[in-house]
Amino acid sequence: MTIVVGIYPTPYDHHPHSHDFNCAIIKDTEIFAYEEKKLFGYKFDDGTAFPYRSLIAGLKELKIKPKNVNKWVFTCPKEFLPKIMMKQLFCDKLKVCKHSQLNSFIKNNISSLPHHEAHISMAKNSSNFKNSYVLSIDGGGDGYDKRNLVLGKYIKNKFEILFSSKKNTGLAGFHAVLTDTLGFGVDNGKTSGFASYGCLNNELYKKFEKFFKIGKNKNPIFFCSRKKSEPNFENVKFENFSLHKYLNTSPSNNEMLKITKKYPSTDVAQTGEQIVKDKLIKFINFNLKNQENSNLICVGGLFHNVAINQFLIDNTKFKKIFFSMSAGDGGLGLGLAFNQYLKHKKNFKNTKYFSTLGLTPFLGPSFKKREIQKLLSSNNNIIFKKLGNKTNSYIVSKIIKGEIVGVFRGRGEYGPRSLGNRSILADPRNLISKIKINNLIKRRDWFMPFAPAILKEKYSKYFDEKSQSPYMQTSPKSNKLFIKIASAGVHVDGTSRAQVVEKETNRSFWELINSFGKKTDTYCLLNTSFNRHGISTVGHPHQALEHLLNGSIDTLIIEDYLVKMKYMNKKKSKYRPFKKNSERKLLKVHEVKYHKKLKFLNY
Ligand SMILES: [Fe+2]
Repeated sequence: MTIVVGIYPTPYDHHPHSHDFNCAIIKDTEIFAYEEKKLFGYKFDDGTAFPYRSLIAGLKELKIKPKNVNKWVFTCPKEFLPKIMMKQLFCDKLKVCKHSQLNSFIKNNISSLPHHEAHISMAKNSSNFKNSYVLSIDGGGDGYDKRNLVLGKYIKNKFEILFSSKKNTGLAGFHAVLTDTLGFGVDNGKTSGFASYGCLNNELYKKFEKFFKIGKNKNPIFFCSRKKSEPNFENVKFENFSLHKYLNTSPSNNEMLKITKKYPSTDVAQTGEQIVKDKLIKFINFNLKNQENSNLICVGGLFHNVAINQFLIDNTKFKKIFFSMSAGDGGLGLGLAFNQYLKHKKNFKNTKYFSTLGLTPFLGPSFKKREIQKLLSSNNNIIFKKLGNKTNSYIVSKIIKGEIVGVFRGRGEYGPRSLGNRSILADPRNLISKIKINNLIKRRDWFMPFAPAILKEKYSKYFDEKSQSPYMQTSPKSNKLFIKIASAGVHVDGTSRAQVVEKETNRSFWELINSFGKKTDTYCLLNTSFNRHGISTVGHPHQALEHLLNGSIDTLIIEDYLVKMKYMNKKKSKYRPFKKNSERKLLKVHEVKYHKKLKFLNY
């Protein structure tokens, strides 16, 4: 039996930016992979010491004892592993070896792989490609791998590096400063959603150009001076704690802030995103010829950006481009585990995990019936009943009535997106669904788009076939027909972060959408992650129940149980009549708030 555990970051990593804690386990032909924050509860996991929850969840899911694990893999080389921490972890806590055996345990049972090789391993082994170019771009690896860009190729599963860069920071670094400048802290996704409301400003574009030098192989190198920002504990919220946010005021006092102040922030976002796209495409086209006969795999934090991903699909000539389900550091655990596992076995053989589009994202924990029954029976504020095979038709009837339904079924998704098993679902045909979730339930930023989940069989009716992603990693233009039938799932710029739902890997969700389609002739649902603002996606049924109890959803489905609040006070319902603000008005409000903030910060 081969059991490999990949853990990121290295236990008690000294690197100050450690985040995205996650753990993956491969046991023969079974996989587990999950992020710590989903079991921890906060969206930001900085300040965490070790992903104990996801490790234990994985050991439970695959029925493994720590002492049976053959290899533990980290991104930190063995020689840098802090012995005292290893002793504490492996001898005292996990009890896999005695103190006297620690040296030989480290020698025989621990291995390592650099940060970017782990990114690349994750993406390559999730795709179905045998031969492919691979591009990994992030903000600068970790404490042991300072590269921000690695370009390589796989030929018959052998990997070769073509070019790499660790000079200052690159495109991901620029995007991070852009996001900070806009006051969004470290939430790069917001910049992208917000950019769709802005226009390209040529004058600003030229100013942004000055932050870059073009290095060898047309590699864009980014320079920008940043003064350390002050800690700000004014708005500390312990219910959705973010260490980074409280230790660094956003926007920080940086050079980019000085030159962007006079422009509308939407235009800053749009122009900044455009420069990233342009520089990326120049780099790719210079380094990768013969695109018509090649595939490309993209991984690293930069490729969480669906607008950039779509730009690559639309402006290159590759046969296929694969975007990893977990492009950022949250996917490193599985990359580490895959790499080590494949040293023992030639390939990973279990077709239930793969479809024609790649590896299933349903690699997280599942919960047994008795665990769920026990939880539901112990709560006096809810009523519940088993719906059995009527579950899907019940959900469909509620969605058609305009309700917002929280669904918690099967194994949790690995990666930042909820893809049907930990999702909040609503009717895509009605814009009110989006407004309801945005303003009243999730309380998230109004400019963030919602994604439609659509049956694979219907995808090409509305979108370009080349953009198919089962992980919501692309944002193709919607055609007129789609805008007509699913307006809530279309962003202001006419794009949709559509999820392709396949019967092979996601049967229950496929059947649910199919039932909705049979009733409405719209074979898609509005699908957003099951979480309130600032909280991570729900990872266990108890968190799902909390969302119901605090009024974040109308109906909760846990496996095939319908769960409702016992005491519903309709007068106090959160569905206040919605006062419709035009987006133009909202943009104005945003600008005023943003400039007030800058004045207060005295930048
Ligand atoms: Fe990374």
